[in-house]
Amino acid sequence: MCGITGYIGYREAYPIIIQGLRRLEYRGYDSAGVVLFDGQDINLSKTKGKVSELEKKVTEGVSTKGNIGFGHTRWATHGVPNHINSHPHLSQSGNLVIVHNGIIENYDTLKKELLSRGYKFHSDTDTEVLINLIEEIKLQENCKLGKAVQLALNQVVGAYAILVFDKNKPNELVVAKLGSPIAMGIGKDNKEFFIASDATPFIEYTKDAIYLEDGELAIVKLDRDIHIRKINDDQIVNDLRIQQLQLSLDQIEKGGYEHFMLKEIYEQPSAITDTYRGRLLANKGIIKMAGLDDNLERFLNAKRIIIVACGTSWHAGLVAEYLFEEIARIPVEVEYGSEFRYRNPIITENDVVIAISQSGETADTLAAVKLAKSKGAFVFGICNVVGSSIAREAHAGAYTHAGPEIGVASTKAFTTQITLLSLLALKLGKEKGNIDTPSYQTYLQEMVQIPSKIEKLLGEDAHVKKIAAIYKDLPNFLYLGRGYNFPVALEGALKLKEISYIHAEGYPAAEMKHGPIALIDENMPVAVIATRRGHYQKVVSNIQEIKSRKGIIIAIVTEGDTTVKDIADHIIEVPETLEAFTPLLTTIPLQLLSYHIAVMRGCNVDQPRNLAKAVTVE
Ligand code: F6R
Repeated sequence: MCGITGYIGYREAYPIIIQGLRRLEYRGYDSAGVVLFDGQDINLSKTKGKVSELEKKVTEGVSTKGNIGFGHTRWATHGVPNHINSHPHLSQSGNLVIVHNGIIENYDTLKKELLSRGYKFHSDTDTEVLINLIEEIKLQENCKLGKAVQLALNQVVGAYAILVFDKNKPNELVVAKLGSPIAMGIGKDNKEFFIASDATPFIEYTKDAIYLEDGELAIVKLDRDIHIRKINDDQIVNDLRIQQLQLSLDQIEKGGYEHFMLKEIYEQPSAITDTYRGRLLANKGIIKMAGLDDNLERFLNAKRIIIVACGTSWHAGLVAEYLFEEIARIPVEVEYGSEFRYRNPIITENDVVIAISQSGETADTLAAVKLAKSKGAFVFGICNVVGSSIAREAHAGAYTHAGPEIGVASTKAFTTQITLLSLLALKLGKEKGNIDTPSYQTYLQEMVQIPSKIEKLLGEDAHVKKIAAIYKDLPNFLYLGRGYNFPVALEGALKLKEISYIHAEGYPAAEMKHGPIALIDENMPVAVIATRRGHYQKVVSNIQEIKSRKGIIIAIVTEGDTTVKDIADHIIEVPETLEAFTPLLTTIPLQLLSYHIAVMRGCNVDQPRNLAKAVTVE
């Protein structure tokens, strides 16, 4: 849940590390730190707050010299975010230094043992325990750093990606991973190496990267090579699995937008096109997707589909429940990863489990995947981040190809997940004979229209901004939708609360009268999705009920609607589409509404408080 990045080579390490930390800040931003080795001393600087705070602190006097170093941007797990708990952490002797992403679950037992051996601790972190454990083993066994790290990790229960340096062995870095991601970039002729939680910190330097696998340890030696071995049995990994990165610099920059979130909202037409490109051949009536085609029988024989996910991805799963049940007629259950994994779920070999995750690293979803696999279910992963843990753990899967999502609040991940899930549902519906050819063709033809319809909808941005300005100071919002748009109501509410800190609830519109209607008064804005298709008349009645209690209606309606226009305080029109695809359109104005409200309230929309992009802890 933290970001780590390091460098060893011939360039000045500091600017590379700081730039890398800025790119990794989406992973956590409550404190930051950097360590550099100048050939003689270890110079360490850390602070509570963001990377910008760290930069200020460094300019106040710490040396930034050195060709070796690493940095950390933190999302606190053990110990409050403060200067002392920030990483990097030094060992007792001051010779070893570490940054860590993850949790050492048995840190308390290890700490007691080290305390009994005279170690003193300055922070509340599990990481300081780990670096002292490494130091103790190194002394006891009189071994090299790599071996000491390996022996220490064999005593550890938990998850980690770590980067360790020994002042007495200044030409190497030790990297290890279990459960948290880590990538290594290889410079020309092994003259420099980069290490980071994802590849973004080093894309301008090299395209050659290795993603360490769980249970592996790498020794990165300057002017030599990377040596990888298994942590538990010393086995050497001969195949370094060097990959060519597809990422480009402009994909991870703001490209003229004020925030990543806005850029990513505007990227949705192209992101959705990238999701179906090569998979949807609308004119030929073909949907092809290797992960599905190769395992078609498993899907067709499935007694049910269980979808596991968290947050926004879980909302995409709820939309999929409607899609699969209506189009493919397969029963679906949608589960939070965190609930699924701990309630002894009944899973059989006849089940297909679909795990949805933008990052592919969400700990609860990953654990649900492992559990489902252990019970014999077939697991299909829908991830955005290529090579991520869930993508690798699943039996098969498909990437959304949305491009990097850097804003902490998910936007394009949601609509691209729904796009992919729609293709799955349509293909299965067709194969099972549950959808007739003309309807199938209509869906396919309509899907390729969605990007241009979103493009048109983005033209409503200024109008949405005006509505945002009117209600930005109110303390509560309600979001209502029915059918396919009930999950969109949940998603709209989540977007608002996470980036603007306004309390918001999403409800199925008809449930309102079973409780939430008590909240309605002249200060309660209610965003209602009232598109012409799907329960339209029922939603109009729900709008009347709100209006008669003086609630404020912001209605998302189909272009040309007149009925709701007469009742609502504001309408935002979306282009006409098939009911099953309405979430792809109705979501957009709700994303924009939250974005503008948050900006007007002075919130940091790309890095909302207490959040991080990838939740790699339970
Ligand atoms: C909300 C948001 C989170 C994520 C959730 C799952 O905007 O971003 O709710 O959707 O943490 O993350 P992934 O999809 O990476 O598994």
